[in-house]
Amino acid sequence: MGQGREAEHGHRAHPGDQAQLGHKASSGPRAHFHPGRGDFEGVLGLLAGLTMSFGRGRSARLAAELAGVRAGDRVVDVGCGPGRFLREAAERGAEAVGVEPSGQMRRIAGWRTPGALSGRVRVVDGTAERIPLGDGSATVVWAVASFHHWADPEAGLAEVHRVLQPGGRLLIAERLARPGGWFRHHALTWEQGQDLVAQVERAGFSDVTAGRHPLGRVQVLAVQARRPANPVPG
Ligand SMILES: C[S@@+](CC[C@H](N)C(=O)[O-])C[C@H]1O[C@@H](n2cnc3c(N)ncnc32)[C@H](O)[C@@H]1O
Repeated sequence: MGQGREAEHGHRAHPGDQAQLGHKASSGPRAHFHPGRGDFEGVLGLLAGLTMSFGRGRSARLAAELAGVRAGDRVVDVGCGPGRFLREAAERGAEAVGVEPSGQMRRIAGWRTPGALSGRVRVVDGTAERIPLGDGSATVVWAVASFHHWADPEAGLAEVHRVLQPGGRLLIAERLARPGGWFRHHALTWEQGQDLVAQVERAGFSDVTAGRHPLGRVQVLAVQARRPANPVPG
């Protein structure tokens, strides 16, 4: 997916460079600051990755249905972790690329990808703030349970906008936190979801919506949007 254009990518300034140089990250609905690299490494990363690679089928199907993934799509999964959502996209006939800062997660995603899907799944080293893929190379970008880890959401959204082709679909899904509930630092409240809607609009996306979707005993907050299509020349 977009491999021919990846080389060009190294020649341009990345919106995420500011965050990597230590400038203050932008404000937004991020619930929990994580610098990205260094998390999910070592033994804890291995345990987290193995835990997340099982029992995520319903979440993966929900993401694929919300994003309308079908054969021919080029899906970029930002913060793909152990890759369950990549496999779901590939099973539906899409090409899927995971962008993942943790080497441990990238290794697990490789082990967990069956040979039959390996031609349609790959995982690259990167972050939301620095996606090593070409402009307009994706028809779908999703980030499932990763947005709350992004070091600089504004830079990440700018990168996602760049990588999506005009008309492409964005899905950001997080567990919906109940105010005062358990584990709320790894989830977004409905109010934070509304802030995220405004931030996604400011990043240049259109048709931005937020929805709640029941998933077993939890609810998923899904923010969906499109990169506007190029205007038809008059
Ligand atoms: C809770 S895991 C979710 C993994 C996967 N999306 C899933 O739902 O199974 C969060 C993932 O985000 C990744 N991550 C952390 N910082 C990131 C960043 N700045 N950009 C992209 N991904 C990041 C982590 O390495 C980790 O794999």
